[in-house]
Amino acid sequence: MNRTVAPSMLSADFGHLERDTRMVDASAAQWVHIDVMDGVFVPNISFGFPVLKPIRRATSKLLDVHLMIVEPERYVERFVEAGADLVTFHYEATADPAGCIGRIRRAGAKAGISIKPGTPAEVLHDLLAKVDLVLVMSVEPGFGGQSFIEGSLAKIAQLRAMAREQGLETILEVDGGISARNARAVYDAGADVLVAGSAVFGAADPAAEIVRILEA
Ligand code: DX5
Ligand code: ZN
Repeated sequence: MNRTVAPSMLSADFGHLERDTRMVDASAAQWVHIDVMDGVFVPNISFGFPVLKPIRRATSKLLDVHLMIVEPERYVERFVEAGADLVTFHYEATADPAGCIGRIRRAGAKAGISIKPGTPAEVLHDLLAKVDLVLVMSVEPGFGGQSFIEGSLAKIAQLRAMAREQGLETILEVDGGISARNARAVYDAGADVLVAGSAVFGAADPAAEIVRILEA
């Protein structure tokens, strides 16, 4: 898959959500990343369905929804109805990952699974063939603006090798602490999609920053 950037709307200005979404829509970024937090799986609360709708209206790009919520299977259909093209849930957040993947697929979206920094890649060995995407968290989920955990590079390489061994072209996405400074190393480790929140929305020229990450 070609290098892809997914700006995280968590770092957008919620007072100007439509403006910021249109900026991403007009930029070189191919995906739009949406962080949903429930205050239980992570120690922070972001937003839910009503906020997805204006974002969906303001972009035709792939809506990449990252659920940081417990029992994600309870809400899959509603996120797809609200406009998600791809729904990613956490391996740690459900007792039945395979069932959750099935629900996402039946609702008509692509399915992704994510692991926190402390969760080893091996837990995904038998699930890899069932998902479209693996999201490697390179910070502890819950907040934007944290520093990239260097050990994530080895995990990305390990997952890329695991997918190759199984003959899969699993999309590998990496989320947390990404900027134009480390993007090349993350792509080189085997990532396809880089999520970037504070690096994009904190830049003087966000659209130019997206290009810098893509071309790092
Ligand atoms: C963290 C979220 C990330 C976050 C990334 O829990 O999943 O998507 O917005 O923000 P930065 O790029 O600032 O680390
Ligand atoms: Zn995210």
